[in-house]
Amino acid sequence: MLWTLFVLILTVLLVLYKYLTRNFKYWQKKGVHFVKPTFLVGNIGSLLTFKKSIGTFLGDLYLNTDADIIGIWIFNTPHLVLKNVDIIKSVLVKDFNHFAFHGVCNDEKADPVFSRMLFASEPTYWKAMRVHLTPLFSSGKLKNMIPLINTVGDDMERYLLSKCELHSGKMRATLELNEVCAKFTTDVITSCAFGMNAKSFEHEDAEFRKVGRKMFDFTIGNALRGISYFFIPCLPRILKFTFFQPDVNEFCREAFWYVVNEREKSGLTRNDLIDTLIKMKNGESLNEFKFGDTVVAQAMQFFAAGFETTSSTITFALYELAINPQLQTEVRKEINQVFLENPAITYESLMETPLLDKVIKETLRKYPALPFLNRECIKDYKIPNTDVIIEKGTPIQIPMFGIHYDPNYFPNPHIFDPERFSEENSKEIPQCAYIPFGDGPHNCIGARLGLIMTKVGLLYVLRRFEVKANQNTPVPLNFDPKSFVLQVKGGISIDLLLD
Ligand code: HEM
Repeated sequence: MLWTLFVLILTVLLVLYKYLTRNFKYWQKKGVHFVKPTFLVGNIGSLLTFKKSIGTFLGDLYLNTDADIIGIWIFNTPHLVLKNVDIIKSVLVKDFNHFAFHGVCNDEKADPVFSRMLFASEPTYWKAMRVHLTPLFSSGKLKNMIPLINTVGDDMERYLLSKCELHSGKMRATLELNEVCAKFTTDVITSCAFGMNAKSFEHEDAEFRKVGRKMFDFTIGNALRGISYFFIPCLPRILKFTFFQPDVNEFCREAFWYVVNEREKSGLTRNDLIDTLIKMKNGESLNEFKFGDTVVAQAMQFFAAGFETTSSTITFALYELAINPQLQTEVRKEINQVFLENPAITYESLMETPLLDKVIKETLRKYPALPFLNRECIKDYKIPNTDVIIEKGTPIQIPMFGIHYDPNYFPNPHIFDPERFSEENSKEIPQCAYIPFGDGPHNCIGARLGLIMTKVGLLYVLRRFEVKANQNTPVPLNFDPKSFVLQVKGGISIDLLLD
């Protein structure tokens, strides 16, 4: 009897083992270079134990493997990591119709908001929605947003001045950079996307700032949600849990409908996102866009995709300027010249800071806010000049963090050198070797707004203050292995010295 039970348990374990490793020969059979997987976790043990973030995991894989394409397993599922930039270009741009999906869970019943965002939605809906939203980021619309961004810049300047105290004959403040920048970008996005003043500089615990923290701060719950939505899409589908915490969705829904009702009552128009969404809601556009959460999703995605990415870009730019004082002096000289000619920040004056432009580009190379890109193959695809066929349903990972540190494209990649992006040097960078905003039709829709926000934020800080490293400023930086986006463990402490 005992013996029979033993054989039965052994058989069940064997069958389970066979089932869970059934795909482990997949890349070998296709003749694709692969990294040997481990039972249950595939190749992502370091991710699950929070030793590495997904960005650094893929980046290290890129830098340590000598193959154009690399087969890995996330749990039991085969994923293809692309290293060759020509293949990356084919996937993102040339043969986009084979890869028009990010491959994340987009189950409406699990999360009616996330599933309708551009990033998550399936190709047909995505295409129609993207066409609809693109005009919101036209030059004219962006020009209209500059005064809104300047208002938040004024709030930030007042806040920074209020934090300064007299020390050794100079007014100075010691601050955690990311928090200041997150307040700035939170208020800008809520103003531009929700038409609201979030007042993050007035109240330390302002509601939108709290929601922003809930979206991106590390908790085991957030980590599990992220991993599930990106890598085990069937799990949220079956268990019906949302991408962000449910109260985050609820808050954004309430805030959105409050603004819409106020607008409709007052008849006020601002020619902004809310106006466009009101038109969608009232059926002046395609039918499928009319429904409640579809419109909420569009406002919420701009908040979710815009504030943390831009805040981290401003943070890292200020950090690099603090530890490269000579460069900072030159940047501040350029900025002061612009302000001397015209004290107000205008769309035109933003075009007159070529050195600052290069600093921002180099910041986005060294510190891409979203350090990897993903796609899913939606139609079988033969990789050009190879015999490899990527099958429908295969998830693709693009290790942006590795590419941006590839010495073939960026010699001495750990050195912060804005001159890589001089007019002449830029020509030497192949397409898809520099992809902080992604590339192809699914690229970042808010890239130009993100760049404008970054620039205005930097202008507001640097025109009055010198940024200086202090004894608590981390050098080198330690990226937080628990975060999907690029974040620094423990934050970045910096001194601001008023001129
Ligand atoms: C410096 C700031 C920013 C960075 C570095 C950034 C980066 C990115 C990246 C890497 C992607 C994925 C692109 C791809 O898969 O090819 C993306 C997508 C997206 N971003 Fe941004 N972003 C920034 C700012 C913004 C802003 C300000 C907004 C909106 C207000 C925004 C909205 C979006 C949306 C909606 C998508 C999904 C687009 C789609 O799938 O069609 N982003 N962003």
